[in-house]
Amino acid sequence: MTTINEILTLDLKDDIKNVIDLEDWSELEIQQEIESYIVTEGIGRHLYDFTNQYTSNIKETGVWLSGFYGSGKSYFGKMLGYIIDNPMINGTPARERFIPRIKGVSDESLIELAIRKLDATNNRVVFLDVAKQNTDRGLAFTLFANLLKNLGFRDDIYGYMEFDLYLDGKYDDFKAQAKSLEGTDWEELKKSNRQVAKVMRSVFSAMGYSEAEYTDTFNVYTAAISDFSASKFKAELEKYLALKNDETVVFVFDEASEAISQ
Ligand SMILES: Nc1ncnc2c1ncn2[C@@H]1O[C@H](COP(=O)(O)OP(=O)(O)OP(=O)(O)O)[C@@H](O)[C@H]1O
Ligand SMILES: [Mg+2]
Repeated sequence: MTTINEILTLDLKDDIKNVIDLEDWSELEIQQEIESYIVTEGIGRHLYDFTNQYTSNIKETGVWLSGFYGSGKSYFGKMLGYIIDNPMINGTPARERFIPRIKGVSDESLIELAIRKLDATNNRVVFLDVAKQNTDRGLAFTLFANLLKNLGFRDDIYGYMEFDLYLDGKYDDFKAQAKSLEGTDWEELKKSNRQVAKVMRSVFSAMGYSEAEYTDTFNVYTAAISDFSASKFKAELEKYLALKNDETVVFVFDEASEAISQ
C-alpha cells in the first residue's frame, strides 16, 4: 500500500511550522519554506491569474487575500512576495526554487510561463507584518519606515535623511565624508544609536551646514515624521520612483485588519 509519506513531496521529518511569519528572513528558512510549499489546483490558478495580471498593464495596484483562519493566506502572500522579489536563496533565485513546486498541477507549463514573464520586470518587495510593527506614527509612516529599511537605510529620522541624500545624489559623498571624519564606514557608524546623531551632525557640518542650519533641518524632519500622512508617503514614493523609473515597489503586508482600523 502507498503511504501518504510517499505521495507527499515534502519530508515529514522536517519541522513543519504551524504559523507563517512574514518577517522570517534567513536564506535557509526561506529555502525550506519554498520547498515545503504545496501548490494545489486552486493555488495554481491563483498564481497564474496573479502573475498574469501583474505583468499586464493593469492600473489597479492593490490585491487583497481573503480566507478562513489558517487557510494559507500568509504563506501564499509570502510565496508571491518571493516570486516577485526573486532574491537569491543559497545561490539560486527564488523563482527557480519555486517553479518545481508547480509540478503536476494542471496547466503547469502555462503557470511556469506566467511566472517567467516576471523575469522582464524589476521589483522591490517590502514585507511587513503590521501586527508586529510600531504603528504609533501611523500606517503611512510604518510603510515608509519599512521601505527605508528595505533600501538599507535606518528606519527613523536619520534614515529619512539618508533617503533624501540618496534622492539628491549626495549619498555617496555623505558616506565618504563620514568615513574620512570618523575613520569608520557609515554602514557601521549608523548601527549605533549612540553615535548616529553625533556623526550625522558632524557630516552635515563638513558638508557646509552651520549648527543652526542643521538644527533647522533636523526640526523639519522631526515635523515631517510627526505629521506624516498617506499623501506625504505618496509624494516620497513618487520621488523615489522618478529616480528608479524601471522599478516596481510592492508592499506585502499581513494582519491588515490592524491596519484598517487606522
Ligand atoms: N500551500 C501550502 N502548502 C503547505 N502548507 C501550507 C500551505 N498553506 C498553508 N499551509 C500550512 O498551514 C498553516 C497556516 O497557514 P497560514 O499561516 O499561511 O494561514 P493564514 O490564512 O495566514 O492564517 P491566519 O488567518 O491565522 O493568519 C501554515 O503553517 C502551513 O504549515
Ligand atoms: Mg496569517
